[in-house]
Amino acid sequence: MDRLKSSARLMIVSDLDHTMVDHHDPENTSILRFNALWEAHYRHDSLLVFSTGRSPTLYKQLRKEKPMITPDIAIMSVGTEITYGKSMEPDDGWVQFLNQKWDKDVVIEETSKFPELSRQAETEQRPHKVSFYVKKEKAEQVTEALNKVLKGRGLDVKIIYSGGIDLDILPQGAGKGQALAYLLKKFEAEGKRPVNTLVCGDSGNDAELFSIPEVHGVMVSNAQEELLQWYAANAKNNPKILHASERCAAGIIQAIGHFKLGTNISPRDVSDLTKDIENAHPAHEVVNFNLLLEKWRRAEVENTELFLAGLKAVSHPTGVFIHPSGTESHIKDHLNILRKVYGDSQGKPLKIWVDDVSASQIGSDTWLLKFDKWELYGEERQGCVVTAVMSTKESNWFTWLHVHQTFLEQSAKQEWLF
Ligand code: GLC
Ligand code: MG
Repeated sequence: MDRLKSSARLMIVSDLDHTMVDHHDPENTSILRFNALWEAHYRHDSLLVFSTGRSPTLYKQLRKEKPMITPDIAIMSVGTEITYGKSMEPDDGWVQFLNQKWDKDVVIEETSKFPELSRQAETEQRPHKVSFYVKKEKAEQVTEALNKVLKGRGLDVKIIYSGGIDLDILPQGAGKGQALAYLLKKFEAEGKRPVNTLVCGDSGNDAELFSIPEVHGVMVSNAQEELLQWYAANAKNNPKILHASERCAAGIIQAIGHFKLGTNISPRDVSDLTKDIENAHPAHEVVNFNLLLEKWRRAEVENTELFLAGLKAVSHPTGVFIHPSGTESHIKDHLNILRKVYGDSQGKPLKIWVDDVSASQIGSDTWLLKFDKWELYGEERQGCVVTAVMSTKESNWFTWLHVHQTFLEQSAKQEWLF
């Protein structure tokens, strides 16, 4: 991970299902709040790690279903697969390490003798993870018996029960906690151990995350019984672990505030964004600007004239906007078009979010920005890559000088506005 030149200010290591992602929230309110907070205030100097039980196949599927931003590191298949960046470059060193005292064929052979176990989908069977479903009342007894049998066959395995249904068999050195410990050791060796680390989870396979020394941890309000039981037995007196009163990503945001790890005010929680233009960082302006567009198109703006004046104030007099279709216009003229589309998404569930915002200073008062921008209409989404130039030359705040958009592959189904 060489995106950051020095230690991350905050590293968040979060589980996905029922932690970062709330499957009972069709509006995606809390994850969108988290996304805006992360891109505006943390992306530039912090690290986001997703740690999921899902295989790469199901992880990619979830990314299509939910408005998720791109993590710096993805740990998948219960800490048995680690990849870096957008391109998901695998960590081969980790794979080598997991081969110790592991033989998948023996695990398959022995588990087939247990009628209580039913095998999960093929996508979820991975080189260092064999997964089943087993009923709650059988879980303990099966785990014990399996441990004994596999030990007898010379293997050193770890058996984890999650969500009151899933049973995973992994090499002893694997798991979400071990994968995190491995990453921390790597950062340490580079002299870049994060200043703070916050782990976030809801179920059994997340328990290990909370036993890594020195990390802060949040169990979201909706955490499973098996995690709460683990906590009661092993970590009750650890002041660095919080059982949040809020669900999923809202619980993560709550924990950032509780442990004082940095700001936890998401731009989505700011009632008047037009008054919030004197920002400390251009990424913050990117997030605010796109949120304002969302509000406009949802007809959620109280004083429309003041609002347009606010948008004008952040666009440079000669600023140019290049639409994904290739059409070029002045940003100011383009803002006039906005008048016509006020509330065009009223009643429709339009959400706009930005992902992977990067900003580099290319002059004393000039910044080059790059990010992905997504629009979600219920189930349908479209996105584009945006490169932009911002300046603080003629004002105290960031103004848009140049915006160039290109559709992302999966896109271009609906009309794209701005
Ligand atoms: C995810 C995986 C599954 C695993 C479970 C618990 O749901 O898809 O294979 O058993 O997480 O770790
Ligand atoms: Mg979970």
